Amino acid sequence: MNERLAGKVVLITGAAGGIGTAIARAVTDESATVLLCDINLEGARRLADRLTGEGRSAAAYALDISRPLEIAAVVEKIVKRHETIDVLVNNAAICPRIPLEEVTEVDFDRIVGINLKGTFFVSQAVSPLMVRQGWGRIVNLSSIGARTGGVAASSVYAATKAGIIAITKSYARTLAPSVTVNAIAPGVVDTEMMRIPSEQVAAIVDQIPLGRLADPEEIASVVVFLASEEASYFTGATLDVNGGWFMY
Ligand SMILES: NC(=O)c1ccc[n+]([C@@H]2O[C@H](COP(=O)([O-])OP(=O)(O)OC[C@H]3O[C@@H](n4cnc5c(N)ncnc54)[C@H](O)[C@@H]3O)[C@@H](O)[C@H]2O)c1
Repeated sequence: MNERLAGKVVLITGAAGGIGTAIARAVTDESATVLLCDINLEGARRLADRLTGEGRSAAAYALDISRPLEIAAVVEKIVKRHETIDVLVNNAAICPRIPLEEVTEVDFDRIVGINLKGTFFVSQAVSPLMVRQGWGRIVNLSSIGARTGGVAASSVYAATKAGIIAITKSYARTLAPSVTVNAIAPGVVDTEMMRIPSEQVAAIVDQIPLGRLADPEEIASVVVFLASEEASYFTGATLDVNGGWFMY
């Protein structure tokens, strides 16, 4: 075990999914306590059991990030038990594949309600704790879709991920200097979210200079960096981790 996040309490939303799980493992590799929040409580519990079975410090919480009242209740419960939250990773999101011309108002509100509203209100609930204690880190998961407008029928998703870059900047300005707020814009990562037809994946890989998808661990290591003291002068930034697919 390393010590870069020793003593820190790290809350991850969407922790039961591919990248969230890799982040959970990476932050516990750095001796943090990890709070695994997910709408999929069973998945979060299974992960917490695995991690604690390996001698790591982890706990699971049910959380639907699209519900601000539920966010407030879960944060209160967490503070009672763990006292504070030092690092927040806004990772939970959905990416339903719907061609632009078929998107309904219900689809639109659901995607925005989880991805954009969720990221905003979880940050709003957690950041006062960080400001009070004079230290905190928020890391938001954006996407290459924010840069390109989205691939594989994901226009609304892409818009939410662009919105997350703006939210990152506004929170960074508001919470400085004690709390830093940054985003990561991954390219295509090998998780459930990218279960699209293999010919579409092959066409994407053809355009990526590094010639492959990212592993979730390659995103998790950047989260650890942004959460650590090594990134003390980053705030309001979005790091593109995309194998060179899109060079900004
Ligand atoms: N996989 C990729 O190629 C890729 C690319 C760019 C960005 N990202 C971003 O990385 C993050 C993680 O993606 P992933 O590939 O691991 O996704 P995933 O679908 O594998 O996991 C997402 C997790 O979020 C949870 N979740 C969904 N709705 C929720 C809600 N309302 N409240 C709480 N939790 C909820 C799910 O239960 C799941 O555990 C997302 O923000 C995604 O947009 C992923």
